[in-house]
Amino acid sequence: MRIAVVGKGGAGKSVVAGTLARLLARRGRKVLALDSDPMPGLSISLGLGPLTTAMLADAAEKDGNGRWRLKKGIGAARAVQRHSVLAPDGVRLLQFGKPELEGMAPLMGSLNAFYQVAHRLAQTKVLSGWTIAGDLPAGPRQAAFDWAPYAKFFIVVVEPTWQSVLSARRIGRIARAGNGVKVLFLANKVSGPSDTKVMADRLHAGLLASVPADDAAREADRLGMALLDYAPSSPAVAALETVAGELERRSGEGSVPGSSQIGDR
Ligand SMILES: Nc1ncnc2c1ncn2[C@@H]1O[C@H](COP(=O)(O)OP(=O)(O)O)[C@@H](O)[C@H]1O
Ligand SMILES: [Mg+2]
Repeated sequence: MRIAVVGKGGAGKSVVAGTLARLLARRGRKVLALDSDPMPGLSISLGLGPLTTAMLADAAEKDGNGRWRLKKGIGAARAVQRHSVLAPDGVRLLQFGKPELEGMAPLMGSLNAFYQVAHRLAQTKVLSGWTIAGDLPAGPRQAAFDWAPYAKFFIVVVEPTWQSVLSARRIGRIARAGNGVKVLFLANKVSGPSDTKVMADRLHAGLLASVPADDAAREADRLGMALLDYAPSSPAVAALETVAGELERRSGEGSVPGSSQIGDR
């Protein structure tokens, strides 16, 4: 199961991606969480706190033409094996990092290596049994520019506002251009059944699920904690548990698929 979580800024992508990654791991899956957003989020929702590390900086080098490439001998499997970090529930996190220094220049090696790894994941045999959950930056740009070519499901997180719905429709149209991609709309911060109905009407689409507006999510963010650790039995977590099961059903993977160890390529 390979999913990318997209949507407007602040819709809840990181909370959804991080919580789902851990819930899917608890269901017995090997999960790789991928953070391709230069803004913070996923490491916190996974329970690692704010983590800015440019994890793939050492995996990249410049070729003779000054273009970034992965160092010799480093493919997707090795990048995950060597450069990802362990998060709660056994999830592996790989991120290109958050720029702490002025400008983007210090991040370019890690960013380019990350892009190349993302493009090799689906073809990497030892990762074939892995579940991948990508947290993408806001807006349609990343979907359009193909930062999640591994993804079979694009989960578009939508809030009950017109702006969010219009963004979601646009992102959906772009993502659907991908080969064999399924776009699923996930309503988040929903206040009641009327919200859900209005959103489905405005999206011209059915919803994968509705996650209620839940103060625990905001409070967890305030504390820099994972929602799953701060409020494991909150309504938002319960809804995301249902989503995890539904994703398994829709991907035809009701039970845990055979997974292989990360080893040499
Ligand atoms: N179901 C929810 N109910 C209430 N607040 C939520 C919910 N989901 C997310 N949030 C809050 O909304 C804010 C944005 O969430 P985040 O996951 O960082 O969004 P994104 O990654 O899309 O920018 C955070 O403060 C988060 O705690
Ligand atoms: Mg985010």
